Amino acid sequence: MAAFKTIIEPFKIKSVEPLGFTTESERARLLAEGGYNLFNIPAAKVLIDLLTDSGTSAMSAEQWAGMMRGDESYAGASSFYRFEAAVRELTGLREVIPVHQGRAAERILFELLGGKGRVIIANTHFDTTRANVEVSGAQARDLTVPEAAKISVPYPFKGNIDTLALEGCLRELGDRVPLVIMTVTNNSVGGQPVSMANLRETGRICRDYKVPLFLDCARFAENAWLIKQREPGFAGVPVRDIAREMFSYCQGAWMSSKKDALVNMGGFLALSDAALAKKAREVLIVGEGFPTYGGLSGRDLEAVAIGLGEVLSEEYLSYRIRSIEYLGEGLRKAGVPIVEPTGGHGVYVDAKALLPHIPPRLYPAQALACEIYRLGGIRTVEIGSLMFGRKNKDGSFVPAKAELVRMAIPRRVYTQSHIDYVIEVFGELARRAPDIRGLDLIEASEHLAHFTAKLAPAAP
Ligand code: F0G
Repeated sequence: MAAFKTIIEPFKIKSVEPLGFTTESERARLLAEGGYNLFNIPAAKVLIDLLTDSGTSAMSAEQWAGMMRGDESYAGASSFYRFEAAVRELTGLREVIPVHQGRAAERILFELLGGKGRVIIANTHFDTTRANVEVSGAQARDLTVPEAAKISVPYPFKGNIDTLALEGCLRELGDRVPLVIMTVTNNSVGGQPVSMANLRETGRICRDYKVPLFLDCARFAENAWLIKQREPGFAGVPVRDIAREMFSYCQGAWMSSKKDALVNMGGFLALSDAALAKKAREVLIVGEGFPTYGGLSGRDLEAVAIGLGEVLSEEYLSYRIRSIEYLGEGLRKAGVPIVEPTGGHGVYVDAKALLPHIPPRLYPAQALACEIYRLGGIRTVEIGSLMFGRKNKDGSFVPAKAELVRMAIPRRVYTQSHIDYVIEVFGELARRAPDIRGLDLIEASEHLAHFTAKLAPAAP
């Protein structure tokens, strides 16, 4: 191709869905009725839905064709063998266990390897990972690199684990650590990538201390592309080879395939340890299903197998990551502070910097997310004290490290004009920032509170 600079959407659209147009007063009413929790807003009342990139991808014509070929046999379906081959080829891990989504793999894994007295170490546990670790009785410890806390500083690999701290912990805790997790990309700190150097060094440390390394690989392809773009020595390496090298350092992996497998439902747990896999299949049969479908229909297995190949297309990944950068550039120009640099699957707005007048105990990021919806019908998600804040036993409030609003971009769904609209709405919101009020928490459950919490506007 000629060297034109515009990076276009590398697809054309065959099937369309209408967007949910509403009025501002209707949205204000829906917010009040839904307890200022955006999980309670009906999707038909959302114009641009950036709540999550999980399960929201547009599938390709090939994947839909695969759905028709799906083999729905209870045991030994041919779709399972295609799924197994695709996962083996990507990860190099022999034992492939399908599950209905990522957290099902987490539940099985921590039921087997977690438990009281154990400590699970990660670059950062995603919220469902942390919940499954804690439900098992184990402790989840994040060893995020200090650079990740400097929101406005564009360090290229903020997803990394602090390898010095990791070595210290393994020395101190010994066999209380049953596994180390690398989340690629690191969702909770801004969809930030982990470098190959960091993966390699972590692999070495884990080998030295005889602790298995697991990848939580929901967004492995975006991580691989960001390595290609940002890490010296990888510019000329095919992204598929980069992905394979990432997996070469681990003994296990699980995937919420609802992200980088470009499907609406699915996941897997992949292991090298056959004895552990045998136990995992026993747990699987009780809660998910027979080991050749694990909570998925044959057509879902087929779509994952195809998606795992499609996602490694370099045309797709260059468009994907460029479209995230484009949103980041627009917001920056509109005066909206964001996590720098932009990462793999979305742009994270720094609500603490935009709303310095709202203290963390009044959930500034949730307040901002509600305002974006009220003003422009855009749904985002809070990654701040509503998701990660805690109450001490004495009732005192421990805020999250950062107050972020995540705009996660569904894959292959929105076009550039949708993103231009988002930038325009945010520009207006930034001008109105001083008028935004905080929210009081009225009701919350113990685990994963943000899904069901109810809030109300705080008194001025
Ligand atoms: N690990 C990571 C890194 C994730 O981002 C998610 C889900 C999971 C595990 C759990 O997978 O949802 O299939 O059970 N993340 C979604 C999100 C929900 O919006 O970021 P799941």
